[in-house]
Amino acid sequence: LQISPFISSLPKVELHIHIEGTLRPPLRWTLAQRNNIPLQFKDQTYKTYEELLESYQVTYNHRPELGGRKDVPTFLEAYFAGCEVLLQEEDFYDLAMDYLKRCQEMKVRYVEPFFDIQAHTRRGVAAEAVLNGYLRAQREGAERYGVKSQWIFCFLRDEPVEDGEAVYETALPWATCNGGYGLFHAVGLASNAYERPPILFKNAFARARADGLHLTTHCDFGQKDTHEHIRQAIFDVGVERIDHGLDALDRDELVEGLRTRGIGLTLCPHAYHRRTATEALFPKLRQLLDKGVKYCVNSDDPVYMHDVWIDGNQEKAYNYGGLSKAEMVQLGRNAVDMCWADEEVKKSIY
Ligand code: HPA
Ligand code: ZN
Repeated sequence: LQISPFISSLPKVELHIHIEGTLRPPLRWTLAQRNNIPLQFKDQTYKTYEELLESYQVTYNHRPELGGRKDVPTFLEAYFAGCEVLLQEEDFYDLAMDYLKRCQEMKVRYVEPFFDIQAHTRRGVAAEAVLNGYLRAQREGAERYGVKSQWIFCFLRDEPVEDGEAVYETALPWATCNGGYGLFHAVGLASNAYERPPILFKNAFARARADGLHLTTHCDFGQKDTHEHIRQAIFDVGVERIDHGLDALDRDELVEGLRTRGIGLTLCPHAYHRRTATEALFPKLRQLLDKGVKYCVNSDDPVYMHDVWIDGNQEKAYNYGGLSKAEMVQLGRNAVDMCWADEEVKKSIY
């Protein structure tokens, strides 16, 4: 995917990226050596770097009748397998610094990365190692690369709610509120949404709101019960943004809810394009504009999605969505508008 000079030149704000989805193979290999961790998935071990690279060919499911494969990981399995090399504070720091450097190359000026702390604490990693590693990178990344960041704590929605609430309690001193260290300013929901509607986390969200944090949730494109998840997010939980949420287009009351409450969507076109035909997908970007639904273009998990980053996603929106240069600039402004940075930071971006 070639990035045009126009897309390259745009200053960018990234609002939908999972930091653990930016762990590039060279760093993963290095961390595996450093921590003496075998690189593996189920009964397969990746003994060489080339074998590791092959493991990034993921499948959507393990059911051959649905076009899936039994022998390769699903996207989320590959993502969590990648996490296994992250153990020490230094590892989380290195991961985040590698990503913030990548941001500088793409003219990303400000980013709100998601982090899945439970993906680490459930493996026995100390929450402090994760939080301090990311905190140090937040500070040094801003200085060294000129990329500011405010992070988003994600509950793993397919884990028990109480587990997430307990980790949240541990992490709260690292939040922006109550004179905290200032790493994260929002909470969200990530991982497998199957039968895990946002309403299950209603109290956890209410608590975060009471703590002064912002709220968002994934409502994955094409997910079972996606319309009900979006409805709950808008009307029952009262989130300020929705991550994906593209299926709202199917229902007038959802479009109306997004519009009247000013809830923007953080879209990741390539994530949908992996499993949706161009003609079925990209007209939706135009429809959202026509209906007055605010959205911005983001990347999700670049390393596990064919190495397509925010610039590649914007390139796809530009080329396949038939958007004009002025509209692409407007989408960039939408991201500034939708982000939760301080006003001075916002002014410094565009
Ligand atoms: N979807 C849901 N949860 C996730 C993802 C995703 O793409 N990446 C990391 N957690
Ligand atoms: Zn996501």
